[in-house]
Amino acid sequence: MFLRSLLQAATLLPLLYSTTSAQNACNNSPSLCRRAYNNITHLGAHDSPFLRNKETSFSTSGNHYYNTTVQLDSGVRLLSAQVHEKQANGTKEWHLCHSSCNLLDAGTLESWLSEIKTWMDANTNDVVTILLVNSDNASPADLGSQFSGAGIDRYAYKPPSTTTLPQTWPTLDSLIGNNTRLMTFVASLSQPSTQYPYLMDEFTFIFENEYENTNPSNYSCKPDRPTSLGTTSAALSSGRMFLMNHFLYQSQTFIQSPNETYANVTNAQTGFGSLGDSVKNCTSVYAKPPTFVLVDFFNVGPAMASVDAANGVTGATGRKSVSTAPLTQGSGAGTSGVGKREGSTLAVVIAVVAAVALGS
Ligand SMILES: *[C@@H]1O[C@H](CO)[C@@H](O)[C@H](O)[C@H]1NC(C)=O
Ligand SMILES: *[C@@H]1O[C@H](CO)[C@@H](O)[C@H](O)[C@H]1NC(C)=O
Ligand SMILES: *[C@@H]1O[C@H](CO)[C@@H](O)[C@H](O)[C@H]1NC(C)=O
Ligand SMILES: *[C@@H]1O[C@H](CO)[C@@H](O)[C@H](O)[C@H]1NC(C)=O
Ligand SMILES: *[C@@H]1O[C@H](CO)[C@@H](O)[C@H](O)[C@H]1NC(C)=O
Ligand SMILES: *[C@@H]1O[C@H](CO)[C@@H](O)[C@H](O)[C@H]1NC(C)=O
Ligand SMILES: *[C@@H]1O[C@H](CO)[C@@H](O)[C@H](O)[C@H]1NC(C)=O
Ligand SMILES: *[C@@H]1O[C@H](CO)[C@@H](O)[C@H](O)[C@H]1NC(C)=O
Repeated sequence: MFLRSLLQAATLLPLLYSTTSAQNACNNSPSLCRRAYNNITHLGAHDSPFLRNKETSFSTSGNHYYNTTVQLDSGVRLLSAQVHEKQANGTKEWHLCHSSCNLLDAGTLESWLSEIKTWMDANTNDVVTILLVNSDNASPADLGSQFSGAGIDRYAYKPPSTTTLPQTWPTLDSLIGNNTRLMTFVASLSQPSTQYPYLMDEFTFIFENEYENTNPSNYSCKPDRPTSLGTTSAALSSGRMFLMNHFLYQSQTFIQSPNETYANVTNAQTGFGSLGDSVKNCTSVYAKPPTFVLVDFFNVGPAMASVDAANGVTGATGRKSVSTAPLTQGSGAGTSGVGKREGSTLAVVIAVVAAVALGS
């Protein structure tokens, strides 16, 4: 009797172990811990630091109502941004700007990386991906100094090779176990550096579909970049991870600005032009869900719902909830009155004219 109980207890032990480790959620769910980095879907905030809220007087160049910290708190795990060179007081600085630093300047790359590091310090079971658009061809040393200045390089994952795709990617568990929880891709890095091996050239590891969509009938799963791939089968056999762009630009504007009024349809789980339908379409094309999906106004939809569905995640833990409503000055989140908004639109137009005149 005693022996039997002992044996029963012994057979239960491994179960107890797995229950304990399974209780540790990785990226908000225990079910993701044992899956490879490339075998889950990460929700991405397109142009993460470019905000459309009180801070920017509701700039029409803003892609999100809530900042990077709130994005991460809500489950976003990929953050994209554009890096531009800016002359400040006679010295070269690397700023996050939307198309032009005259249009929307969200500060230095280093200060944004510090914000992300602060979040990662406090959230030790999460793997975060950064995707930098290298608008002014910053070198690995230029970018690397911003990473080390922010101290976030300590979390950076270094791939086995910066020029060759790995056969397999680590699981979230092993990235978390090694505290190499930051994946960094740069579009593009023509000369990856062995001194900064964590800076991965995006198109060596990832392919994307078309991103310049102005009509909800435009979405396609076909590879657009790198241009060398051409067909879906070439993209698939290349072994690269798939980043699915799913956001809509306004059609009749001089500058590219996000289509805000249609965001609830764009980020919905079902319906014509929805994120959910795009994920399903592309899942059938590639026989697995995209590794990354990139959206504007991440809270609307909510976009997270389509990503949870792709991951088979229910009952995610550790997320803070955020309103799915658009943020407007009228909703009480901004300063009152419409005058300011018109003022900001005018300022944008003036800035663009100035930028064009200066040829920047
Ligand atoms: C990807 O994850 C799914 C769900 O856990 C699993 O069924 C599948 O075997 C995994 N594929 C690979 C290649 O790891
Ligand atoms: C981000 O937004 C939240 C909510 O508005 C605010 O409390 C926080 O200070 C902001 N963080 C940064 C780094 O701007
Ligand atoms: C540049 O000059 C401005 C205005 O004098 C100042 O506010 C800012 O801190 C300076 N920036 C640097 C990097 O020195
Ligand atoms: C660290 O990463 C390696 C390679 O992915 C993996 O084999 C190892 O288990 C990881 N260590 C921990 C503590 O997770
Ligand atoms: C996007 O859709 C519109 C309306 O169907 C069409 O006129 C336009 O050519 C499409 N653009 C692309 C790039 O497919
Ligand atoms: C946003 O997209 C919808 C659907 O295509 C369109 O009806 C609307 O005019 C667009 N808004 C702007 C400002 O382009
Ligand atoms: C999107 O918002 C518009 C305007 O508020 C509303 O009429 C429409 O039903 C909403 N669509 C979805 C899919 O939520
Ligand atoms: C999904 O595919 C269907 C069938 O080809 C197409 O009609 C629809 O526009 C696609 N939707 C999205 C959002 O990609």
